[in-house]
Amino acid sequence: MTDLDSVRDHYRATGLTDRLKTALAALGPEDRRLTPEQLGPLDQFHTRGLAATADLAKLAGITADTSVLDVGSGVGGPARFLAATYGCRVTGVDLSEAFEEAARYLTTRTGLNGQATFETGDALNLPFDGGAFNAVFLQHVAMNIADRPRLYREMRRVLKQGGKFATFDIVSNEGEPHYPVPWARTPATSFLLTAAQTREAIEPAGFRTLAWQDDTETAKTWFTQLRAAWPPPSPNLSVVMGPDFGELAVNLGRNVAEGRLGVLIAVFEAA
Ligand SMILES: C[S@@+](CC[C@H](N)C(=O)[O-])C[C@H]1O[C@@H](n2cnc3c(N)ncnc32)[C@H](O)[C@@H]1O
Repeated sequence: MTDLDSVRDHYRATGLTDRLKTALAALGPEDRRLTPEQLGPLDQFHTRGLAATADLAKLAGITADTSVLDVGSGVGGPARFLAATYGCRVTGVDLSEAFEEAARYLTTRTGLNGQATFETGDALNLPFDGGAFNAVFLQHVAMNIADRPRLYREMRRVLKQGGKFATFDIVSNEGEPHYPVPWARTPATSFLLTAAQTREAIEPAGFRTLAWQDDTETAKTWFTQLRAAWPPPSPNLSVVMGPDFGELAVNLGRNVAEGRLGVLIAVFEAA
């Protein structure tokens, strides 16, 4: 099995759209429009949920005129939040066909069809022309990708000159992480870099650093609160990832608390 097959397997999510239909019945009938806030616990698949996407969008200066590509868009929560909040057009691309299908279904449920669209594809081989976007988002995806120089060159290729590359990522720190974690049940699909190594991989791809923030302390507080209030409001990411999602999230929180992993939020300009 290649690295790509193993990552795809981790996010295979068999029968996801049907599971979502069943779980979302708790929020009302099929024809009632859902909001990004209602869906946040289940469709923002990263540390700090909706708040982190909102922070990254502000840092990247998203406006109604920004055409955004969300790489590794998951089930589409960040793309829908940007489209609903700023009125911009967002394209999501993800390796997982099940996630892409779920993203389309959830987008219909939020009435955002046409503003947020989704495709299947590999971040290392994006199905888009060069210079097609004003902004690229990459949230909690790079840790599944071994070839970082190629990943960041691909982010640069699809951006117009002066466009923004906004990333929110887990980085390695002191010591080996405890597994399983939300992006990898074993180290075989986890390809972490330190914060310094991440920057060293991004800048040579043709980027200038605009914002660089260590988000680890904010993340620690969030994990403490999440654990104290566990389980999160239903439906949540257990619908997407399965009943062991609690264990995956607790391990990530523990890794951050013990200083094994850190959290980085950064924005770059395409030179
Ligand atoms: C932890 S989830 C984050 C999803 C989304 N960015 C969010 O924050 O809600 C990681 C996502 O990256 C996707 N992914 C991993 N490797 C990828 C690749 N090579 N190309 C495209 N997507 C990839 C996975 O399928 C998964 O949806």
